[in-house]
Amino acid sequence: MSTLLITGGTVVSSTGRSRADVLVDGERIVAVLEPGSTLLGTDLTASVDRVVDATGKYVIPGGIDAHTHMQLPFGGTEASDTFESGTTAAAWGGTTSIIDFAVQKTGEAVETGLEAWHEKARGNCAVDYGFHQIIGGVDEQSLKAMETLLDEGISSYKLFMAYPGVFYSDDAQILKAMQKAAELGLLTMMHAENGPAIDVLAQQLHDQGKTTPYFHGIARAWQMEEEATHRAIMLADLTESPLYVVHVSAKQAVDQIAAARDRGRNVFGETCPQYLYLSLEEQLGATGDPAWGEFEGAKWVCSTPLRSRAEGHQDAMWQGLRTNDLQMVSTDHCPFCMKDQKELGRGDFRAIPNGIGSVEHRLDLMYQGVVTGEITLERWVELTSTTPARMFGLHGTKGVIAPGADADIVVYDPAGHTSIGVGKTHHMNMDHSAWEGYEVDGHVDVVVSRGSVLVSDGEFHGRAGHGRYLKRGLTQYLV
Ligand code: URP
Ligand code: ZN
Ligand code: ZN
Repeated sequence: MSTLLITGGTVVSSTGRSRADVLVDGERIVAVLEPGSTLLGTDLTASVDRVVDATGKYVIPGGIDAHTHMQLPFGGTEASDTFESGTTAAAWGGTTSIIDFAVQKTGEAVETGLEAWHEKARGNCAVDYGFHQIIGGVDEQSLKAMETLLDEGISSYKLFMAYPGVFYSDDAQILKAMQKAAELGLLTMMHAENGPAIDVLAQQLHDQGKTTPYFHGIARAWQMEEEATHRAIMLADLTESPLYVVHVSAKQAVDQIAAARDRGRNVFGETCPQYLYLSLEEQLGATGDPAWGEFEGAKWVCSTPLRSRAEGHQDAMWQGLRTNDLQMVSTDHCPFCMKDQKELGRGDFRAIPNGIGSVEHRLDLMYQGVVTGEITLERWVELTSTTPARMFGLHGTKGVIAPGADADIVVYDPAGHTSIGVGKTHHMNMDHSAWEGYEVDGHVDVVVSRGSVLVSDGEFHGRAGHGRYLKRGLTQYLV
């Protein structure tokens, strides 16, 4: 067991900041001390195995990205990050835990899908990992299987109101799953878009020759997200089931969540960096022409889609994060290369695999919100680490810098700088970056996961297999 002392930094939590030294013994934090503390008169720096100098830097709990899709089969291909490449990129960016989505494909047993996910991840992760369970076919068998999820350390599951014929659940199925979830204490995560109506709109656009990536966002209109969010909230209300709406991008969906919360309902919302910074307008490309012949806009095809800046959706997301109408920022990391993957939809936006890769950049991108004054430093920590831990049953072990917690720690340099892009900071297995050219203030300097230094001095010291499976408890947001 080795000891590590992080000295001279400002420890930031979700509730405050103070100058403190952090002492780690083995995998755990054992003390948060007055700066320069001694042990029985002996200088601590002389009695530990390693000292990390964090002078002038922030010391924050390791990031928790609660929405990733490594190796997800989707749109006739598979998300391009393996658990190894994706969690390595996560570590580079200061994320020390991910929660990925195990998939039950329609027609397959939940247990089979879950075991397949364990097979993909086991021994391959550079950081700790847990699973949510996608229920891709709600029937008597899968409802029964939900009863054992908690024993497997899975306290949340995802349903889709989108993607008919793939993961889609109709209202009757959602109702039944929520009734079961309420009985078991599981948290329902919802992809809230009206899939059947979107498919009609997409077909009509296609038939009119509107086939470029831009029309993906037109078909997936905000009304489709607002309507589905409202419906999910009503079903959750009826069944007294807590609800977590994933990847919120429409301001009207935030309004629905806020209204439910104002009525005292256990409804939570997550947004993602792409919905804070990127917009539908960018997908039009340089010419601003919807019929833009170029295919570049495919880089930003994801669902829910990027939305119009002119309509104010991005501002509404920031506001929701400030007012706690939205509680979390995850990435929905679902990377696809342009070559051979996004290209499947050249000439038909409906065939572009949906997803953006950001697992490496979430902390940096969200830190820009601190720089521009959109959120406080403490809120940055809360959104990216403390609330994800609490929402998904990891709080105490993860999400805090406190004695007894796992030593998942990031030393963040506010005076540093990060250039995002392929060939720069990019470690994700993608041939492009949705964030190409972003020059951001701040830099992830040192990353510690359960006491092991994974990143320091611009080098990666981690390994596939360091990451352990996280058996999660019930959400700690509810009594
Ligand atoms: O575009 C996205 N979000 N792809 C991943 C699948 C999902 O719906 O989360
Ligand atoms: Zn989704
Ligand atoms: Zn997703």
